[in-house]
Amino acid sequence: SSNIPINIVEVGPRDGLQNEKGIVPVEVKVELVNRLARAGMKFIEAGSFVSPKWVPQMAGTAEVISQMERLRGVHYPVLVPNQKGLDNLLNLLSTYRPALSNSQPQPPQPTDEIAIFTAATDAFTQANTNTTIAGSLERLAPVARAALDKGLRVRGYVSVVITCPYSGQVDYKKVREVTEALLGMGCYEVSLGDTVGTGTPAAVSEMLEEVKKTVPVEKLAGHFHDTYGTGVANVLRSLEHGIRTIDASVGGLGGCPYSPGATGNVATEDVLYALQGSGYTAGEDIDLEKIVETGWWISEKLGRESVSRAGRALRSK
Ligand code: HMG
Ligand code: MG
Repeated sequence: SSNIPINIVEVGPRDGLQNEKGIVPVEVKVELVNRLARAGMKFIEAGSFVSPKWVPQMAGTAEVISQMERLRGVHYPVLVPNQKGLDNLLNLLSTYRPALSNSQPQPPQPTDEIAIFTAATDAFTQANTNTTIAGSLERLAPVARAALDKGLRVRGYVSVVITCPYSGQVDYKKVREVTEALLGMGCYEVSLGDTVGTGTPAAVSEMLEEVKKTVPVEKLAGHFHDTYGTGVANVLRSLEHGIRTIDASVGGLGGCPYSPGATGNVATEDVLYALQGSGYTAGEDIDLEKIVETGWWISEKLGRESVSRAGRALRSK
C-alpha cells in the first residue's frame, strides 16, 4: 500500500520499568521483552547499564539481555551513561564472540545498539547524571566513539525538550545545539524527549521548527510522556513535521525517576490505534491485540490496570 512506514521504539522494559517502586524480577523483564518481540516490535529498549545506586530498578539488565530470546531483525538497545556502563556491556558482549568456522554457530550477540542521553538544561542533566550539559557531552563523546569502534549503533536522547521540572520553560535553541552535538558524536538518530509531558502540539511544532533549522528531520525521533494526555496528539504532530520514529511504552508504563510527577510514555497501544487509516503504518508484523494483552499482563504483574486508553477499550470488547 502507499502507507508511509514509521518505526516504533518500544521503551517499556526500560523507561517503563525504571520508575517502578518495587524491583521487577529479571524473569518478568525477560518475558516482557519476549512478548513484545513476538508481538512484532522491531526496536525494544531492553534496559540500562546505569549506576544501580542511581536507578536500582535497572540493575538486572545484563541478565535480562543474556536471557531474553533474540529474534532476527529485532534490535534490543540499552542505555549507557558513561564509560563504566559501556565497559560492563562490552564485557558481556565479549562472551558472544563469533564462533570459529568449524565450531557450532553461536547465537547473535544480545544487542547491537546503545543509547546515550543528556538534556537541554543544566539543572536536569545535573539531577539525572550528576554533571552539566557540557560535562555530559564531554563524558559521552569518547563513549560514543568507543561503541562505534566496536560496531555498535549509537542513538542519542535529549531530555526536557519542552519544559524542565527544575528550570521551567526550555530554550529550544539549546535543544537544537545539544541535538547537533549528539549527531556530531556519531549518533544515527536523536530522540527528543518531552520528559515532563507538558508539551502541547503547538509547543512541539515550535520546538521542532527550531531544531529543524539545522538538523535533518530524518535524524530525529519523538519521545513523549503522556502526563497531560497530549501524547498521541504530539506523536501525530511530529509525523506531520516529517519525523518517522516514535518512542512508546506498552501499557503506558514509564517515567524518569529524576522527573517528579511525570507519568509514563505515550502508550504503544494508543499510538498503534491512532495510526489506523492515517496513511502511516508501523508495519504489518505488529499485532495490536498481542500488544494490548502484553500491556495488561505487565500492568497486572505490577499490581494495577493498564493505563493505555486503547488497551482498556480493546480489552473490554
Ligand atoms: P556519579 O555518582 O557521578 O558516578 O553518577 P560515579 O562515577 O561517581 O560513580 C558512583 C558509583 O556508581 C560508583 O560506585 C561507580 O562504580 C558506580 P562506588 O565506587 O561508589 O561503589 N557506577 C556504575 N555502576 C554501574 N554502571 C555504571 C556506573 N557508573 C558509575 N554505568 C552516573 C553518574 C551517570 C553514573 C549516574 O548519574 C547515573 O547512572 N545516572 C543514570 C540516571 C538514569 O538512568 N536516568 C533515567 C534514564 S534517562 C531518562 O529516563 C530520559 C529518557 O527516557 C528520555 C526522556 O524521557 O527525556 C531517555
Ligand atoms: Mg523517557
